Formats: sequence, C-alpha cells, structure tokens
Amino acid sequence: MRCIEIRSPGGPEVLQPVEREDPVPGRGEVLIRVEAAGVNRPDVLQRRGRYPMPPGASDIPGLEVAGIVAGIGEGVHTWRVGDRVCALVAGGGYATFCVAPAVQCLPVPGPLDFVGGAALPETFFTVWTNVFDRGALRAGESALFHGGSSGIGTTAIQLAVARGARAFVTAGSDEKCRACEDLGAEHAINYRTDDFAEVVKRLTGGRGVDLVLDMVGGDYFARNIAVLATGGRLVEIGMMGGSMSAAIDLGDVLRRRLTITGSTLRPRSVEEKGGIAVDLRREVWPLLEQGRVKPVVYRTFPLDEAAAAHRMLESSEHVGKIVLVVR
Ligand SMILES: NC(=O)c1ccc[n+]([C@@H]2O[C@H](COP(=O)([O-])OP(=O)(O)OC[C@H]3O[C@@H](n4cnc5c(N)ncnc54)[C@H](OP(=O)(O)O)[C@@H]3O)[C@@H](O)[C@H]2O)c1
Repeated sequence: MRCIEIRSPGGPEVLQPVEREDPVPGRGEVLIRVEAAGVNRPDVLQRRGRYPMPPGASDIPGLEVAGIVAGIGEGVHTWRVGDRVCALVAGGGYATFCVAPAVQCLPVPGPLDFVGGAALPETFFTVWTNVFDRGALRAGESALFHGGSSGIGTTAIQLAVARGARAFVTAGSDEKCRACEDLGAEHAINYRTDDFAEVVKRLTGGRGVDLVLDMVGGDYFARNIAVLATGGRLVEIGMMGGSMSAAIDLGDVLRRRLTITGSTLRPRSVEEKGGIAVDLRREVWPLLEQGRVKPVVYRTFPLDEAAAAHRMLESSEHVGKIVLVVR
C-alpha cells in the first residue's frame, strides 16, 4: 500500500509518502480500502513527537478514514466486503489500506461521499463523548465552545443546536465568527478583540453557561470557571494555550457546584470507543442521514500532499475539516 510516514519528529516536511505491506485485519477487525482520510490537530502533535501512539497502534498518522470494506477478520459478523464505512482508528489512516476494529466503524451516511464520511469519526466521537456524555448537555441548556471554527467546534455547534441547546463560541477572526453563526451559533466572540467571559456573562444576563468545551487551557481556565452557571461543567479536551493554569478560587467550585473534567479519545479501549459508536448511530447518525447536520470540509489534498495539509491546519486559516483524498 501507499502511506505517509513520519520520518522523524519535526515540521510538515517530515511527512513522507512511502510503500509498505498491506495491513492484515486481526480478530474483530476489518480491512478498509481507504478513499479519504481526515486530518486532525492530534496528527500534528504526533508529527512533532508530542502525542505518542497507544501500544499496538500503527505509527502511520491518521485517526479517521472512509472507504470500502475489503477484508474481514475473524469473528466479525456486522460488516461485509463492499460496505461503505467510516471508522475511528488509533493510527494508520494516511494510507490506501487501513485496519479498524469493527465496532469503531459506522456506515457512511447516505447524503455524504467518502470525503464527508472521512470528516466525521474523530470529531463526532470526541464531541459526543465530551459534550453529551461526560458534559451531559441537554436541550434547553447553553454551551460555550472554544475554537468554534475548528473541526471539533463546527461539529459541536451543529450537534448542540440540533439537540435543542444554545451555542456560544469563540474564534480568532470576524470572518470565522460569521461562519460559526451561519452554522447555528447564537453568538460568536472574536477572542482577539473581546473578552469572552464578559460577553458570555452579558449575553446570558449574568447567569453564565451550563457547559464549556475547552481546547485552549492555560489562561482560559479562570475565565472558563467564571462563565459557568450554577451546576456548570468544564470539559477540557486540549491545551493549545498551555497545560498550566493560574490559581482559581475553589470557593467558586463549591458555591456553584461546578464539575471540572476532561478526556482524550485515542488511548481509550476498543470497547469504550465501540460504546460511543453505538450512541452515535442511535442519536446522531439520523441527523446526518436527514442532512440536518453536515461535516464542514474546508479543503482536500491528495494523500501524497499530507505535508501541505498539515501546513494549512497549522496556519489555522481553515473553518471545519481538512481531508486527504486517497484514491
Ligand atoms: N481530547 C480529545 O479526545 C481530542 C480529540 C480531538 C481533538 N482534540 C483537540 O481539540 C482541538 C481541536 O482539534 P481540531 O482537530 O478540530 O483542530 P483544528 O481544526 O486545527 O482547530 C483548532 C483551532 O483552534 C484555534 N486555536 C489554535 N490555537 C489557539 C490558541 N492558542 N488559542 C485559541 N484558539 C486557538 C484555531 O482557530 P482560531 O483562528 O480561532 O484561533 C484553530 O483553527 C485540538 O486542541 C485537539 O488537540 C482533542
């Protein structure tokens, strides 16, 4: 197969097209003939040597693919050769063939092509498990999503609104803010010109929001705590602004009964990821089938141009997802 290797930790130029043996599906796995593969911020961290693979995972980057089932491992009865699937994988996505646990595969929703399908797994699994499971966002509640224009953010906005919640977001330009509002955000705050905590407090009549999904960390922590309503939940999924935070007054946590939590998806077990897939198929796939929620694909690149895809992701000019077209 053709795939992209990380020659050594470094900049986008270390991503190098090579030929390797096709992978072989093990027990409980399927072999996917990859048509498209999503590019995600964690791939950039892996390329820089700052996001080690979990034990047993492929060293080839790529956490999500869409394609056609080309082989079935022992004990798999849920998929057949020829099925159109998208899959969450722990690595190996930037390749013409990839193996995936059968329970981490979902059908490509009817309205979508493979590029759209490849843009789903990483962000939809992440948003579901953090916003709706861990964060327990319910209809009638309100949420603040940082990085509103990111792959994660564009997914979170659409799912929150489709499920009856109010979405506020932050983004780094007025243009990105408008794009987030077009996706359904009630108000997008340009964090470069406005203090998001002040704006959210004002827009919610001083109450704050029920949930904050944070991928910045660092000096956002104290302000995230400040914008939470009584009973609010802060869910950490990234640390783009640093892993250390300023001290906060723990009295706020007690008085407002706040929950501070977080998670990473990749190291979780196949069983846990399979459980998230079951929830997604029941709760979210109908929204994709009906076209009420859509992946936002900003740009595609051929597989061999993975380095250019990473350069674009790191420039942060994009709104939504960047996808590699593999065939
Ligand atoms: N925990 C998990 O399981 C998990 C899973 C997947 C992704 N993630 C994390 O979720 C985040 C989004 O991932 P993604 O793939 O959707 O990324 P992405 O599309 O590359 O988006 C990241 C966005 O964050 C904004 N940003 C970058 N640096 C920032 C900073 N210092 N302060 C504020 N905003 C900043 C940029 O937009 P602006 O122009 O608005 O600055 C950028 O577009 C990443 O941190 C990623 O590591 C976590």
